[in-house]
Amino acid sequence: MGRTLKFNIFRFNAEDPASVPHMDGFRLEETEAMTLFIALNRLREQQDPTLMFDFMCRAGICGSCAMMINGRPDLACHTKTKDLPAEITLLPMPVFKLIGDLSVDTGTWFRSMNEKVRSWIHTDNRFEPGEEEERMDNALAENIYELDRCIECGCCVAACGKAAMMPDKFMGATAFCRITRFMVDPRDERKSDEYFEVVGNEEGIFGCLGLLGCEDTCPKNLPLQDQLAMLRRKMGFSQIRHLFSGK
Ligand code: SF4
Ligand code: SF4
Ligand code: FES
Repeated sequence: MGRTLKFNIFRFNAEDPASVPHMDGFRLEETEAMTLFIALNRLREQQDPTLMFDFMCRAGICGSCAMMINGRPDLACHTKTKDLPAEITLLPMPVFKLIGDLSVDTGTWFRSMNEKVRSWIHTDNRFEPGEEEERMDNALAENIYELDRCIECGCCVAACGKAAMMPDKFMGATAFCRITRFMVDPRDERKSDEYFEVVGNEEGIFGCLGLLGCEDTCPKNLPLQDQLAMLRRKMGFSQIRHLFSGK
């Protein structure tokens, strides 16, 4: 026989001035292969149609279902209830603006981060649609692909102590990963110093506490620690070069 799951879910409707933040309790029979996506939909269909949460792909691809699951940020659609205790506490992710209950606005935060790191290929080459595609070495293409796998779920931001202290300012590990993605791309003509100008400050790499909650919680297992180390190393070399060249 399946377990009876007890859910404690944060409730607050940011649109309703009369709404007061509180926790609501629910009970639900666990079924085979149940995910939190299935559980939350059942709760909404059968017990409370006002329950707010976000889902799109249900396959760990769109990044919209991230929430705090028993204190840890993760994707609800790829979390199986059998891997959790019978009592499950769900909270919205911190740092991001709360929309209601478990739903937060990650889009505004990521848009601002992408604008800060100018997250696009910078080149003076004109795009000629009729021309043959430029070739790229397989290993390099794979490296870029690896760094491009971020689904902008926000788990690394929600786990980051520095982002909690500077919610509208600290760029977070996802930004460092974006920067290194463009640094290794030969089509981007920015010089190293141009990247360092963006991340070489307290809102960027110097503000990072280095405790790596980001990498521990990334559901896509992105190598965030390696990118942090690589940026720090390259910035160090660049500063030494400037010291010796007197520039
Ligand atoms: S290592 Fe840096 S970016 Fe990652 S969680 Fe810690 S402070 Fe945030
Ligand atoms: S780096 Fe990982 S945890 Fe952070 S937003 Fe991207 S996929 Fe999510
Ligand atoms: S619903 Fe898309 S990642 Fe979970």
